[in-house]
Amino acid sequence: MPPTAASYWPDARCARAFWGQHELPPYRQLLADTVGWADPAGGERWLDLGCGGGAITRAIWERTAGTVAGVVGVDCAAANAQAYDRLQATLGPAPGDRVRFACHDFSCGLGVFAAQEFDHAVSGLSISYAESFDAGAGAWTTAAYDHLLREVFRVLRPGGRFVFSVNVPEPSWGRVARFSLLAALRSDHPLRYLKRSWRMLRYGRWLKREARTGRFHYLPAERVTEKLAAAGFTRVEHCLSYCDQAYIFRAVRAA
Ligand SMILES: C[S@@+](CC[C@H](N)C(=O)[O-])C[C@H]1O[C@@H](n2cnc3c(N)ncnc32)[C@H](O)[C@@H]1O
Repeated sequence: MPPTAASYWPDARCARAFWGQHELPPYRQLLADTVGWADPAGGERWLDLGCGGGAITRAIWERTAGTVAGVVGVDCAAANAQAYDRLQATLGPAPGDRVRFACHDFSCGLGVFAAQEFDHAVSGLSISYAESFDAGAGAWTTAAYDHLLREVFRVLRPGGRFVFSVNVPEPSWGRVARFSLLAALRSDHPLRYLKRSWRMLRYGRWLKREARTGRFHYLPAERVTEKLAAAGFTRVEHCLSYCDQAYIFRAVRAA
């Protein structure tokens, strides 16, 4: 790794800053669109990659009225375990161990899970951060991103769906902020809301800077489609959401 490559993602402060994301109207739209495409049903086993505070896990639970067989949230920030403790305490019916958190860095793949362990996988604005550095070439590569797609393929059963969002190239956080401003004025806690949004914007600047170096991957939709096909997925489709600052993809692991 190059000496400047510290990551904020495992930090508790960064994790908590993104817990407030679901208050922003563009994110709520993205969440609704993602879960709409995921279309979870009772009895299914789901993987939530880069789960953060568990907004998608919660939405899967609520949409299936708690009949889902299980949701495992994976994230490299240990602080997100607290958010999952809160999910355990607040979801109805009480999920017990059907909702759980695994602290894991997906840049190393998904070796902690068995082949075909899940029916479906979902991910919200996370897989772009799978990172790999080629010390010989002195450059960031997409090897970890490509490997992660192959790993998702491996842990899904044949016919399983992978539904995920990723930011578009050079995303405009300003556009997201403008669409969120009205909600800040209507919020019961406008100052807290603005503080959280400001923190996310600061991390957003870091993310865009690193994406320009090739460390993170805000790729055109055509490239993501090619990578999904190379990993073995079929029936790949995508749409725009999040004020046009993110794509949602749906792909199927062929039988
Ligand atoms: C923009 S946040 C999205 C969180 C959540 N999916 C949501 O929709 O609210 C990105 C998440 O990806 C996680 N992440 C980034 N790099 C990761 C890695 N290498 N392994 C596991 N999680 C990672 C971060 O910790 C963070 O929680």
